[in-house]
Amino acid sequence: MMKKRQFLKRLGQATLLSPFLPLPLQGQDESGRLPYPELNDDAFWLRIRKDYALKPDYINLENGYYNFIPKPTMTKYIEQINMVNLEASYYMRTVQVANKKKIVSRLAQLVGCSAEELILTRNTTESLDMIIGGFPWEKGDEAIFARQDYGSMQDHFQQISKRYGVVNKIVSIPNHPKSDEEIISIYEKQITPKTKLMMVSHMVNVTGHILPVRKICDMAHGYGVQVMVDGAHCIGHFELNISELNCDYYGSSLHKWLSVPLGSGMLYVSKNNIPKIWPLMADNIKEPDSIQRLNHTGTHPVHTDLAVGDAIDYLEIIGLERKENRMRYLQRYWSDQLRNIPNIIVNTPVEAHRSCGIANVGVTVMKPADLAKTLLKEFNIFTVAIDYANVKGCRITPNVYTTTEELDVFVHAMKTIAS
Ligand SMILES: Cc1ncc(COP(=O)(O)O)c(C=O)c1O
Repeated sequence: MMKKRQFLKRLGQATLLSPFLPLPLQGQDESGRLPYPELNDDAFWLRIRKDYALKPDYINLENGYYNFIPKPTMTKYIEQINMVNLEASYYMRTVQVANKKKIVSRLAQLVGCSAEELILTRNTTESLDMIIGGFPWEKGDEAIFARQDYGSMQDHFQQISKRYGVVNKIVSIPNHPKSDEEIISIYEKQITPKTKLMMVSHMVNVTGHILPVRKICDMAHGYGVQVMVDGAHCIGHFELNISELNCDYYGSSLHKWLSVPLGSGMLYVSKNNIPKIWPLMADNIKEPDSIQRLNHTGTHPVHTDLAVGDAIDYLEIIGLERKENRMRYLQRYWSDQLRNIPNIIVNTPVEAHRSCGIANVGVTVMKPADLAKTLLKEFNIFTVAIDYANVKGCRITPNVYTTTEELDVFVHAMKTIAS
């Protein structure tokens, strides 16, 4: 029979080491060859494309909902599932917490904050709803957010309005701002002595518009107003440093641009704010400034937590800066060709720093839903229709596997429809 010490050693190898294998091993393809040599850009991105199992049925330009995972991460994920299933309760009672802590430390490095200010959640909704629902509201307090923010968070603000008598002030973000100051003043004009919390999208999900979050936070703090940032589309998409944003709370979904398996998110709460938030699920931790107070989840799929490390490994093969440049290049590749075409409206700012991989485009002669249907039916291009507030068009979200040839098909389709 295996001795206890041997067993523990094996368990340690299986659980502690597997999420942290050195990069070359993580990146090997089935043949065992090192697959990511220093290729020129075209060859490199074609190699990355081979990491994805792609359906031949359509060109997928709707990666914004879920950046499905590349094969190397999928292989590791299945290994994590098998390992957790084999070790079962023993895993849960021994190394589960320590492994999660290591993953959080690694993620904290990627997003630029302290591990004591970061927790893993299931998604952005859970992260931001924890703040909206757990904020110490008093009757008459005011909150500010935008019509272009994500619907579920707006719904939660409406709920706390009914529950606590909070007054919501709803602003509208222009698709083509003249300056950062224009955006800042839209929020600033709504601030009163009663304003407590503002929600700001780092990237507006329907247009891909990147807002000047640092400047908005500096302005809000000048009035003593806190800022909760919705960064659902930002982690793993472009370079950012949460500490430098000077925000109070930051939530994101890691199954979006970091390509972690479904059901993975994160929440940053700056140290001084941890004691004031009521957790979604109560924990017995007594230290008021321990972020663990906010991370009671009950039993949950711990293999998904482990997969965060594998997804970061894959991102490191690409390099975040290189990915950001590629995503912006792909977006500009198609949007620059469509901006001045009659009947076509690009709903995303033209300045490079105000967007990255996501943009939105509509045609004046067709409703967004019909445009999405036509793109799919006539041209085999899958997108999503957006039709509310000042945004009427299809959201276009390529991914690292997208080729310019696929975008040529899209540009041709749009020109044909518009004419
Ligand atoms: C801006 C924004 N916030 C929040 C969410 C919610 O993300 P999740 O469903 O992963 O919680 C989304 C989802 O698309 C989003 O785009």
